[in-house]
Amino acid sequence: MGIRRLGVNIDHVATLRQTRRKLYPDPVAAASVCERAGADQITCHLREDRRHIQDRDLRLLRSTVATRLNLEMAATQEMLKTAYDVKPDMVTLVPERREELTTEGGLDVTHHKDGLKKFLQSLKDADIETSLFIDPDLDQVRAAHRIEAQAVELHTGKFCDARGDAERRAELQRLADAAMAAAKLGLKVAAGHGLNYHNIGALLPIPEIEEYNIGHGIVAHAVFVGLERAVRDMVALLCA
Ligand code: PXP
Repeated sequence: MGIRRLGVNIDHVATLRQTRRKLYPDPVAAASVCERAGADQITCHLREDRRHIQDRDLRLLRSTVATRLNLEMAATQEMLKTAYDVKPDMVTLVPERREELTTEGGLDVTHHKDGLKKFLQSLKDADIETSLFIDPDLDQVRAAHRIEAQAVELHTGKFCDARGDAERRAELQRLADAAMAAAKLGLKVAAGHGLNYHNIGALLPIPEIEEYNIGHGIVAHAVFVGLERAVRDMVALLCA
């Protein structure tokens, strides 16, 4: 692929499996298909409530993913221990609330600088690259830089949910401004949440965004066209 990397979030395959507590569909097998179809990274979120990805999935993914494994997790001691055991290539810290349907907002880095800085240092000590999932907000970007995160992932949910042109343009501008500020500070910039084949095009002109993590849109498309084709279709858009 070109300069834009695609991380495929496979949580939704695990969600389907967990509805029946069966062995299939297996997110580990899905990850291999995604890689074969051109994904540059496999992303998964091990939630405290284990509602989709299980510990077993993560262990197997570590030994089968040939590209990069990006683990999304909350900044808790239990998850730090898991990260130390599994050694993903990257950890993306995300906020987590039990009652939420999905990750609903970015991390509040500005109000938790000291704790998060220590947490990031523990990950870096284990040679794990660190990223923070934040809203496209300049204060959050600056705080992420101040606590020495290596990357940020900008939450695209508000942009994806925007109603009407004016709101969509405003959200797009926030993403563009946050991406530019982050890159100027030396942070790698990723984006994700709610992205699909229709809305991704608007983000592509933002040159600082090097990586997209996309789950629901790809797995939903895969229901109709198969996972391999669904990933290829997204890779083609990112390469355009
Ligand atoms: N990036 C992060 C940090 C996320 O928490 C999620 C949702 O789990 C995604 C990307 C993927 O979002 P979606 O499934 O809406 O594409």
